[in-house]
Amino acid sequence: MDISFLLNGETRTARITDPTQSVLDWLRAQGLTGTKEGCNEGDCGACTVIVTDDSGVRALNACLMMMPQLAGKALRTVEGIASPEGVLHPVQSAMIEHHGSQCGFCTPGIVASLAAAHCNGRTDHDDILAGNLCRCTGYAPIIRAAVAAQDAPVPDWMHDTPPTGLLADLPGGFLPQSADDLAAWYPANPDATLIAGATDVGLWVTKQLRSLPKVAFLGHCTDLQTITETETGYRIGAGVTIAALRAWAEGPHPALASLLRRFASEQVRQAATIGGNIANGSPIGDGPPALIAMGATLTLRRGDTQREIALEDFFLDYRKQDRLPGEFVESVTVPKSAPDLACYKLSKRFDQDISAVCGCFNITRSGSTIESARLAFGGMAGIPKRATEFEAALLGQPFTEETILAALPALDADFAPLSDMRASATYRRETARAMALRYLRDASGEATSVLEVSA
Ligand SMILES: Cc1cc2nc3c(=O)[nH]c(=O)nc-3n(C[C@H](O)[C@H](O)[C@H](O)COP(=O)(O)OP(=O)(O)OC[C@H]3O[C@@H](n4cnc5c(N)ncnc54)[C@H](O)[C@@H]3O)c2cc1C
Ligand code: FES
Ligand code: FES
Repeated sequence: MDISFLLNGETRTARITDPTQSVLDWLRAQGLTGTKEGCNEGDCGACTVIVTDDSGVRALNACLMMMPQLAGKALRTVEGIASPEGVLHPVQSAMIEHHGSQCGFCTPGIVASLAAAHCNGRTDHDDILAGNLCRCTGYAPIIRAAVAAQDAPVPDWMHDTPPTGLLADLPGGFLPQSADDLAAWYPANPDATLIAGATDVGLWVTKQLRSLPKVAFLGHCTDLQTITETETGYRIGAGVTIAALRAWAEGPHPALASLLRRFASEQVRQAATIGGNIANGSPIGDGPPALIAMGATLTLRRGDTQREIALEDFFLDYRKQDRLPGEFVESVTVPKSAPDLACYKLSKRFDQDISAVCGCFNITRSGSTIESARLAFGGMAGIPKRATEFEAALLGQPFTEETILAALPALDADFAPLSDMRASATYRRETARAMALRYLRDASGEATSVLEVSA
């Protein structure tokens, strides 16, 4: 298959024999070895590149991106961040001036992340760099460089116009252009692997060395990438990225937005989709517990048939979901607001880490009496799951510490968590209890956010 895209400002057509080949492997095979391979699993950012398409300029991990995902887009690698004449980009000059590099292995990825952020006028440098691991310089000089460069104008050569008409020549509907295309193709190809952001599927290839004989890339189904208002809520397309969802949620659902700030890193959030997060069925995914606590419903589609189910009913058992062959996740619908929602993610690091436990609480009150309670946890069972016994013990009770303490033992009836490398069962149990008490403290304004603590 042939795939066309812009590479550092010039049109390239690449002949691909394996559609799951990573952009990183392809670049390095072309001699563009500035883009580094560190972890090959989305954690270190050494492979960061800049991708421009209709949705804007994004820093992405080349190790998690498969070549067909580039079709019709503009790719800029570290080799294309200085001008063709060799004039350095402001972030490159600032990195030199502020001694932002020592061994230099992380530097191309850091420069790519900073240059993408610079294009977008972003100044939240800590957040931007959370997915770029530097083992020797330390971040202070790098942040100084980012601050020094932030007000410089974006150089002309960085303005990539997303190309049009440069799609892949893919046989058999591998690259559907809409949900309808996908719906027409998938029932006849139920053995195919759907690939949205590839932040989970990419690892099946790079880490588990699986070969995926039949794949469909959903990235061109732009109708799956929209958020629309309905009479009672918001319908979020399966292809909406975590970054886009986070930005949108700042308005109607700030608790969801603050949870998504802790989801992986900028590069992963810019690729990962909410549909992939749900369909993947991971017991430690961050999206499902929050969405379940909000009372979200899921729309599944097979051919022309759509069905709607409560999100919590989608997760049947460990890695087993209520999804028919040839059926895909089309959207998830959330209420217009959930003012009592609070989400707590506990992981070993603040940024770029998977949850040991993720607890999401949505308790509404009438006066001081608990009127409704939807509490959902990740990391406590083989699936993201509601704490129904705990909820029942809260209903009709006053919203007080005594009530929470009296109800806490019910959590043991809801969950029998496992011990694994992230946390022991006892730690998980204790954490879930502490989260419930934290929710009470938050509701009464007593708790302090970790982001408010500074040296
Ligand atoms: C470094 C790193 C950090 C991470 N950190 C987090 C984290 O903090 N929190 C967290 O929750 N997750 C995390 N993840 C996991 C991953 O990013 C998420 O699960 C992500 O939302 C997956 O979305 P995707 O679009 O990349 O899915 P893909 O990898 O493309 O697909 C995932 C699964 O969903 C299926 N699928 C995708 N779209 C659809 C659809 N529309 N209908 C049916 N099936 C579909 C695929 O076939 C596949 O089985 C991390 C991953 C990496 C690599
Ligand atoms: S090589 Fe580490 S994130 Fe890609
Ligand atoms: S300069 Fe060595 S890892 Fe960052």
